[in-house]
Amino acid sequence: MSFNFQENRLFVESKALSEIAQEFGTPCYVYSRAAFESQLAQYHKGLDGQSGLICYAVKACSNIAILNILAKKGAGFDIVSIGELQRVIRAGGDPKKVVFSGVAKEYKEIQYALEVGIHCFNVESPDEIDLINQVAFDLNKIAPISLRVNPDVDAKTHPYISTGLKDNKFGVDIKQAVSVYERAAKLKNIEIKGVDCHIGSQLIDMTPFMDALDRVLNLVDELAKKNIIISHLDLGGGIGVDYQGETPPDIAAYIQDVREKIKGRDLSLIFEPGRSISANSGVLLTKVQFLKPNDHKNFAIIDAGMNDLIRPSLYSAWQKIQLIEPSSAPLKTWDLVGPICETGDFLGKDRELALEQNAVVAVMGSGAYGFSMSSNYNSRNKPCEILVDGAKVHVIGKRQTIEQQLENEQLISE
Ligand SMILES: Cc1ncc(COP(=O)(O)O)c(C=O)c1O
Repeated sequence: MSFNFQENRLFVESKALSEIAQEFGTPCYVYSRAAFESQLAQYHKGLDGQSGLICYAVKACSNIAILNILAKKGAGFDIVSIGELQRVIRAGGDPKKVVFSGVAKEYKEIQYALEVGIHCFNVESPDEIDLINQVAFDLNKIAPISLRVNPDVDAKTHPYISTGLKDNKFGVDIKQAVSVYERAAKLKNIEIKGVDCHIGSQLIDMTPFMDALDRVLNLVDELAKKNIIISHLDLGGGIGVDYQGETPPDIAAYIQDVREKIKGRDLSLIFEPGRSISANSGVLLTKVQFLKPNDHKNFAIIDAGMNDLIRPSLYSAWQKIQLIEPSSAPLKTWDLVGPICETGDFLGKDRELALEQNAVVAVMGSGAYGFSMSSNYNSRNKPCEILVDGAKVHVIGKRQTIEQQLENEQLISE
């Protein structure tokens, strides 16, 4: 475990988090290099001996230093915008290992992706196929595509992170997929490569994945009968993590199960993990600003808010919060609320903690959808990002300044 207690002090690898809080201030994201690498290694272990790619979902934690570390370990990337592709390239990632997901790709994004030569477009609608065909024609190129199908399985996760139901905006209904492929096969600047699905996030039970896989394999067989040959399956991301005592599946074992199911077929495999690589590779450090108990509630006002970490406010997500150093304060039940002027601005409710003013707590499991979803709401600067590698500490994202926030704004002249 990359985050662990040593003599009651919380460490990341060989570094005490209190020293990091002291040196860089709070709020502050802290990541463990070893954690990122060992999670990615689980995926590579599962894929060993099988043709395929692990395409880390950049949206989960997009800092270029992190992307660079993963690229050096052989990762490809799942991107959803030109900005994410530019990050990957800046980080030294290989465009040939990039899959491009997302429902609303624009002409210039497709153009750039074709110019740098990505592995595949994961297309989400017939209109998008037409646009990709047009851009590829304009550039005199052939665009590799995979159709994101919506297998209509219930991932039984939070509704906001469930994506594979027929009333979700993502992908094409699997029942319509054959006709969409038949039409795409006739387009001159399109090359059909794969089938793709991503049914949701934070999945602990693997049954929905396997149900989706069965449906996708049926589709592959139906397409083969029509002489449309699929060379890769992209099963998306979605594997859950332990936030609150969940027991997530063994990643390598899950991939082995998938390999077992596709046995006898000439298919390579792509996975797009985000959360399972980054969530427990990072924490958010925040300091108790004030304690404000009243007759009904004990509020601990902390210096991080929903603008720094929106998951609790947005999805009612629960993340463990713990003191990074021992405290002699009495144990009480606290709501940890941020500085933002919204009632929904909290990072944790009803937490038993021995809090005192200026104590620093770590919000665990903040490496995924943490900094990457942060905002400047209430004109607050984004926090800094620190990467620990053994005993070495690197600033991989400086704390934002008000000048940077105001950079693109201007007064009118009268
Ligand atoms: C298409 C696609 N792939 C991969 C991911 C990553 O999912 P997770 O972080 O649950 O692994 C997402 C997340 O939203 C996604 O939409």
